Amino acid sequence: MGFDEKLLQEYYADSPDDISLEDVDMARVPRHVSIIMDGNGRWATARGLDRSQGHVAGVESLREAVTTSVRLGFDVLSVYAFSTENWKRPQREVNLLMHLFATTLVKELPLFHQENVRLRFLGDLEALPEETRLVFQRGLDETADHTGMVFALAVNYGSRAEIARAARELAAEVAAGEREAGSIDADAISDHLYTKGLPDPDLLIRTSGELRLSNYLLWQLAYSEFYVTDTYWPDFTRWDMLRAVRSFQARDRRFGGVK
Ligand code: FPP
Repeated sequence: MGFDEKLLQEYYADSPDDISLEDVDMARVPRHVSIIMDGNGRWATARGLDRSQGHVAGVESLREAVTTSVRLGFDVLSVYAFSTENWKRPQREVNLLMHLFATTLVKELPLFHQENVRLRFLGDLEALPEETRLVFQRGLDETADHTGMVFALAVNYGSRAEIARAARELAAEVAAGEREAGSIDADAISDHLYTKGLPDPDLLIRTSGELRLSNYLLWQLAYSEFYVTDTYWPDFTRWDMLRAVRSFQARDRRFGGVK
C-alpha cells in the first residue's frame, strides 16, 4: 500500500533498546496482518481491576494498532474482536463488549477518515444488538469510498460456521443449476468466505501466549506465519508490531515448495 517515510520516522522515534525501525525492511512488510487480541481479562485481573476495564484498555491498543498498520503500509489489518463462542461469557460482559464496539466505532470514524481506512466486518452481524448493527452499517457507509488500508473487524465470527455457510451457498448454486459441482475449487470456497477479495493473512499475531487458533480464519491462515507474544493485548504497542514484522521477515516462506 505504501507508507509515508517522514510520518513513519516520527512515529518510530525514541526506540527501545531491542528494536528500531532499521530492523525491518520496509520493502517486505506483510500485506495482511491479522491479530487475535487476547489477554484483556488477565491484564485487568493482574491490576485488581474489573475485566471490563481490560476491554476498555484493549480499545486503546487497537487504536494504536490501526495507526501503526497504516504507518507501516499494510494493505489489511484484521482483528478477532468477538467469536461465536464469546456469547457464553457473562451477559454483563457481552453487553459491555457490544456497547464498546458501537461507541468505539463512532468515536474512531474521524481516525478512519483521516487515515483513509476502509472498514469491513467478518462474521454474522444479524445476531448483534440493533445499536451495534446500525453503527457498523454507518461505519461501512462512511468509509466505503476510502482507498487506503482495509480494517476488518471479526465480530460474531467463527471459522467453521463460515466454511459451512460457504458450502451451503455453493450447494444452493449447484442445485439452482448455476454451477457444476466439479467447478468447486479452493478459489470458489475463498470467494464465499467473509474475507472474499482480501489477500490471505501473511502474518498472524496472537497476544497473551496462547498457542491455539480458537476457530479463527482456519482456511485463510493455511500458509500464514505465526507470531505469539506473552504480552497481554492492552500492553501491545507499535514496538511489538515492529518485533512481529522483524520476526516475520526472518522466516523462510516456501508455501510447501522448495527454494
Ligand atoms: C480477549 O481478551 C479479548 C476479547 C474477547 C475482546 C476483544 C475486544 C477488544 C480489544 C475491544 C475491541 C474494541 C473494538 C471496537 C473492536 P479476553 O477477555 O479473552 O482476556 P483473557 O483471556 O485474559 O480472559
